[in-house]
Amino acid sequence: MGIKQIIAIASAKGGVGKSTICTNLAFQFSKDFNVGILDADIYGPNQHILLDVSESKPEVKIIDGKKSFIPIKVNNILLNSMGFVLDDDKAAMWRGPMLSGAIKQLKELTQWGDLDYLFIDMPPGTGDAYLTVASELKPNYVLLVTSQSKLAVKDTIKSKSMFERLKIPIIGVIDNMSYSVSFQSGEVVPDFSPIDLEHEIGLKILGSIPRTKELTAFNPEISSNFFETTYNEVLQIIE
Ligand SMILES: Nc1ncnc2c1ncn2[C@@H]1O[C@H](COP(=O)(O)OP(=O)(O)O)[C@@H](O)[C@H]1O
Ligand SMILES: [Mg+2]
Repeated sequence: MGIKQIIAIASAKGGVGKSTICTNLAFQFSKDFNVGILDADIYGPNQHILLDVSESKPEVKIIDGKKSFIPIKVNNILLNSMGFVLDDDKAAMWRGPMLSGAIKQLKELTQWGDLDYLFIDMPPGTGDAYLTVASELKPNYVLLVTSQSKLAVKDTIKSKSMFERLKIPIIGVIDNMSYSVSFQSGEVVPDFSPIDLEHEIGLKILGSIPRTKELTAFNPEISSNFFETTYNEVLQIIE
């Protein structure tokens, strides 16, 4: 069986919420499916921090004469990350081919078992390194994350054309940090001047996630309040 589907969570811009969305979405999927996360963000891996397993290391075993990683299991999600295996300072200096080689190896040497979905938390970018990573990991789908800021929207359009060139189907876009809810009145306050995101980008918007303190750390108790609708939307498209 192996891995049935690989879904990359991507954006050209950093800081729009890829890692946050990746953890929460994978967690929703993990209630119904076997799920893994591969943190491929060599410059700033975050999943081990979000999932609160920074102190853990995947066990290394020799299986059939090959070095293999036993992924960490947390909240019913299997995790392996560049953050577990790399020295931060050195990783930031790596060049394209080394980078993509390392990520591909990390994916292939991990004992994922039978997974329905492997989520890839991608680094930001559109450059060569990024292209290689995206094409070597061979995701079945990509999910783009944006905010409504002009800059993020421009970058999302760039990502869209890059993935179209790579012929990786785009599930759609998640509009993150879309609005806030007033603490006093409970009123929804938009965080950006209104734009028709779906029209601007030309992709389906799969959910609008608020900007809230509750999402600055991963909390399995409240995750579904914010991500259940988006989970159902995504599932409908890929199932
Ligand atoms: N919906 C949200 N509400 C509030 N803070 C958020 C939200 N999404 C992301 N953040 C915060 O924004 C920052 C960047 O998010 P992150 O998931 O690391 O983005 P990326 O992986 O794209 O760089 C983090 O500090 C994160 O906690
Ligand atoms: Mg990230």
